Amino acid sequence: MAKVAFIGLGVMGYPMAGHLKAGGHEVTVYNRTKTKAGAWVEQHGGALAETPRQAVEGAEIAFSCVGNDDDLRGVVLGREGIFAGLSAGSIYIDNTTASATVARELYSVGKEQGIDVIDAPVSGGQAGAENGVLTVMCGGDEAPFAKAQPVIDCYAKAVTLMGPAGAGQLTKMVNQICIAGLVQGLAEGMNFGLKAGLDMEKVIDVIGKGAAQSWQMDNRASTMCKGEFEFGFAVDWMRKDMGICFDEAKNNGARLPVAALVDQFYAQVQNRGGNRWDTSSLMHLLMKD
Ligand SMILES: NC(=O)c1ccc[n+]([C@@H]2O[C@H](COP(=O)([O-])OP(=O)(O)OC[C@H]3O[C@@H](n4cnc5c(N)ncnc54)[C@H](OP(=O)(O)O)[C@@H]3O)[C@@H](O)[C@H]2O)c1
Repeated sequence: MAKVAFIGLGVMGYPMAGHLKAGGHEVTVYNRTKTKAGAWVEQHGGALAETPRQAVEGAEIAFSCVGNDDDLRGVVLGREGIFAGLSAGSIYIDNTTASATVARELYSVGKEQGIDVIDAPVSGGQAGAENGVLTVMCGGDEAPFAKAQPVIDCYAKAVTLMGPAGAGQLTKMVNQICIAGLVQGLAEGMNFGLKAGLDMEKVIDVIGKGAAQSWQMDNRASTMCKGEFEFGFAVDWMRKDMGICFDEAKNNGARLPVAALVDQFYAQVQNRGGNRWDTSSLMHLLMKD
């Protein structure tokens, strides 16, 4: 069992840290809004720290799951940051969806201090985090990955080392690009079926057993048809992720015509006040012009 720390107890981090504790690890948590950390300790036990530095002191493995690149630099660097508290020989695993650039930057800064850094964004959503069945795509070195993998397993069903620092984030970008076009296609199909007067539960049941099946269809088609969007993976996060993909595409020359179009649709959802709605809310634009 390891001594670990978890920084960032949001929708994802809160249950992920809970699975580490349930897995028998000694867990210290930090959250910017302290009440959330207090609630976590009350629910799970473990210890509460006042700063990221304090949380990771003495930890063999430190985890984080915050919002974006800037948030990440905020909790890792500086006098009260994760790197100020971690000792040489420890491992730092970041589960935030961020750029490959910041992943490589933190890897290099960590190396100078003898800290092994692994970028480890996740897929599987809030339900995946709560049920401890996330897919984790990692970038970094093999030896620390092998050491950390059994610990990451506490909140994952699949953990894969994709390559050097940044490779986890690049894989997550592929994931988000695949999802963007798919969700729009699903929304168009569901809206068409409703307009055609079909029984959409029956439609989803039958085509969900054929070539149109997808995670999005299994988990989102039904709520899309009911116009329910107040849950899940926030549109604001998706737009942040699309921005990361577009920046990276400028470097590697990949064309993203459909992702760029869907990103504009998500901007329209934001204009309707849907910032925290689930990404399936593309349906809202079709249902309610
Ligand atoms: N939600 C999903 O379905 C999902 C799925 C896959 C990946 N992700 C990714 O996972 C990450 C977290 O998502 P989430 O849904 O858990 O977000 P969230 O509920 O908004 O939680 C964000 C967490 O980060 C902390 N935080 C943000 N900025 C900070 C800063 N500058 N300094 C210190 N702490 C800061 C927040 O603290 P406070 O409590 O003080 O605000 C909170 O604990 C994002 O990168 C997201 O893209 C999310």
